[in-house]
Amino acid sequence: MMWSAALSCMTIIWILVGSLACQRNCGSQKEDNDRFILDSVVYKNEVSTSSLSAGKVWLFAVDGRRKPYNFLDENGKLVGFDVDFISKVCSVVQKKCKIVLAEFTECTITERNINYAGRGLMSGWFDGCPGYVLSLDRQGAFDFTEPYLATDASFTVSPGNPSGFDPDLDDYSKFTLTHLTGAVTNAQCLNRLHKKFGKIIVAADLPDAKELLLNRTADVLFSARRSISGLEVLPQRVHCEMGGTGVMLKKGSELAQWWNPAFQTLVLSGGYAQFCAESETKYNATFRCLSGLKAGHIISGKPLTPATQTMSQDAADQRVWLFALSGRRKPFAFQDEEGRLSGFNIDFVRAVCAEAKQVCDFVLSQFTECSFTQRNINYAGRGLMDGWFDACMGYADSVDRAAAVDFTDAFLESSSTFTVVPGNPSGFDPDQQDFSNFTFTHLTGAYTNAQCLNRLKKKFGKIVIAANLPEAKELLFDRKADVLFSPRGKIPDLEVLPQRVHCERTGSAIMTKRGSPLVDWWNAAFRSLVRKGLYQKVCEEGRVKYNFPIRCFPENTSLPTSGYPEDYIIG
Ligand SMILES: *[C@@H]1O[C@H](CO)[C@@H](O)[C@H](O)[C@H]1NC(C)=O
Ligand SMILES: *[C@@H]1O[C@H](CO)[C@@H](O)[C@H](O)[C@H]1NC(C)=O
Ligand SMILES: *[C@@H]1O[C@H](CO)[C@@H](O)[C@H](O)[C@H]1NC(C)=O
Ligand SMILES: *[C@@H]1O[C@H](CO)[C@@H](O)[C@H](O)[C@H]1NC(C)=O
Repeated sequence: MMWSAALSCMTIIWILVGSLACQRNCGSQKEDNDRFILDSVVYKNEVSTSSLSAGKVWLFAVDGRRKPYNFLDENGKLVGFDVDFISKVCSVVQKKCKIVLAEFTECTITERNINYAGRGLMSGWFDGCPGYVLSLDRQGAFDFTEPYLATDASFTVSPGNPSGFDPDLDDYSKFTLTHLTGAVTNAQCLNRLHKKFGKIIVAADLPDAKELLLNRTADVLFSARRSISGLEVLPQRVHCEMGGTGVMLKKGSELAQWWNPAFQTLVLSGGYAQFCAESETKYNATFRCLSGLKAGHIISGKPLTPATQTMSQDAADQRVWLFALSGRRKPFAFQDEEGRLSGFNIDFVRAVCAEAKQVCDFVLSQFTECSFTQRNINYAGRGLMDGWFDACMGYADSVDRAAAVDFTDAFLESSSTFTVVPGNPSGFDPDQQDFSNFTFTHLTGAYTNAQCLNRLKKKFGKIVIAANLPEAKELLFDRKADVLFSPRGKIPDLEVLPQRVHCERTGSAIMTKRGSPLVDWWNAAFRSLVRKGLYQKVCEEGRVKYNFPIRCFPENTSLPTSGYPEDYIIG
């Protein structure tokens, strides 16, 4: 206690020193600065009483391949701007910080045009990934500290620009683009820039991207780099970022709570500007540090990340419940074209969390982190089991899934369908009892599986598990499977047959790790919403907002509590 009181005191002194420096140097910025200095003092007092992170060593991951930001010098020592900067910020609040080498894909990866957080960040191998651009779409997968470097994006071509790419065009669809996996220079950024585009190839790393350009598989590399040896970076600059480059964090991380005030202190005392100047000399490089005014503006309390929007000062110590979504389930939970999270399930979870007075946030995660199928049995995914998040939204509560996970009350009706290639070339008939002449496919982790077919009293033969929807579609088009069994009512390019069957016990619910305390508070809050008529209101608003017949349970249905109907077959 003594130690933490001393720490708070020191922080206040630091901030006061900062404020004096600013009154001399910052002119008209004074009012803003005073306001956020006050906030910081209150904030620090609260944070320093938290025993959660006292004495913790905070780990920051870099890949050692980004000279002059982080790299191994000729003797193998890890050095660079990011390395020095972390040590500088941590020393302001006397936090123990260490840098750890890790491949960048442990921080972030791109899968089918969506950026997800990497395993290392989600599993707690480390706490932060410095040097990542804050963008609208990344906010669905990460929290961030305040930005500390300016950035922009550019287009790189083979020497001489052989395909004649022009960044000023509105329509890039004649060109094949590439970007590095996990980059913010992605489809969502192109949409925000109102560019039309066609094929995008995600490159595994920079050498891969270079090879794609040099062997003419791709025409343009879209990236945040200003020079790439052996290639030509075109002069035009565009912006995918919000504010700049910061430290990327797991959603719900406490790191920003002490980092941001420490960085503010550094900016106000002039230490940040001095650090930048010294680094330019030390590494013989230009660093795009934010100007004092810009940095002051960005950090003057304007909320940048959802975490600061949803977390009030009072809630600083309250735990954040994370709800995972793949970002691909329109209109329930999806990343819109520009990169924002949206959907009925998100609105609904917000309503329940507000009723329960719990702090909730959303995190993009591949759906296989929630659930996957191995030899016809559904298991809970690594993300759910390893605490990457607390819950997966919109999973139907089938009896076989319930052997691996817990479910809340269901909140949407669900049903399952059979999908075939248009024209139903294998003549599949869902009303028959014997499906054994047809090859089935379903997505990994789906509840439209072998056990459901058994409950429906169907005979069946071969089932091929697909890794994702594109793979399932390919199986159908290649005639390697006849039927896709799924909960979807509509699938582009395919024919969903009209028959409906039921694999769920009650419907679509929130899926948690076995034994999660979430289920109790959730059910209490959900039932309270139902009693107040607010569940029905969210449903009605959702139908209008998403222009989709969202199937909530009827107004007068008494909601299931315990015990589920044993008759799985309806209609
Ligand atoms: C071009 O390079 C990429 C990346 O190394 C490689 O995967 C691809 O096969 C190459 N294509 C041709 C036509 O050489
Ligand atoms: C610093 O960088 C410049 C330009 O890249 C180069 O010309 C110069 O030789 C470098 N100086 C030292 C001391 O390495
Ligand atoms: C399955 O195919 C075989 C061979 O074409 C046929 O004899 C049999 O009647 C079919 N079974 C069903 C249930 O359609
Ligand atoms: C429930 O609502 C339906 C349709 O609105 C109505 O037909 C039915 O009578 C209602 N049942 C009860 C028990 O109120």
